[in-house]
Amino acid sequence: MSQPAINFTDIPPEHRVRELFLAAQDVQTRAYAPYSHFLVGAAILTSTGNTYVGCNVENAAYPVGSCAEAGAIAAMVAGGDTEIAVLVTICDSTDVGTCCGGCRQRVREFAKSDTPIYACGTDGIRAVFTMEQLLPTSFGPENLVGFVS
Ligand code: THU
Repeated sequence: MSQPAINFTDIPPEHRVRELFLAAQDVQTRAYAPYSHFLVGAAILTSTGNTYVGCNVENAAYPVGSCAEAGAIAAMVAGGDTEIAVLVTICDSTDVGTCCGGCRQRVREFAKSDTPIYACGTDGIRAVFTMEQLLPTSFGPENLVGFVS
């Protein structure tokens, strides 16, 4: 089912969602998805104000392909950042295309419970969720305190 778009003007400007949307849209065009034909782009704004992007990269050995969010996170960590302030994803689906389960956990490692995650389509923002909404009562680094040194 198609969802009504959320206006960029309704979003807090500090989330820089229009800029992230354009960055995600740009990297989506470079997604390598010859098997699913489902092109995904992701853009991260970090707490330091930096932005990082990623796209899905598939493989003839299907299970070892990687998601757009995973690519953006890898770029972020390689760039020296570890705090996701805002995440924007984009796909061409007419439904709300949210992060897959595995990516929710990947994002969770670097996000806070109230970190906004914008799910976009070609027409703009379809929905916004907090990290907690996408992955409630989650397991994270703090659960390992005292168990690992
Ligand atoms: N995909 C993503 O990049 N992110 C998600 O959160 C959902 C799925 C990709 C993986 C695969 O290349 C294609 O979309 C179809 O599942």
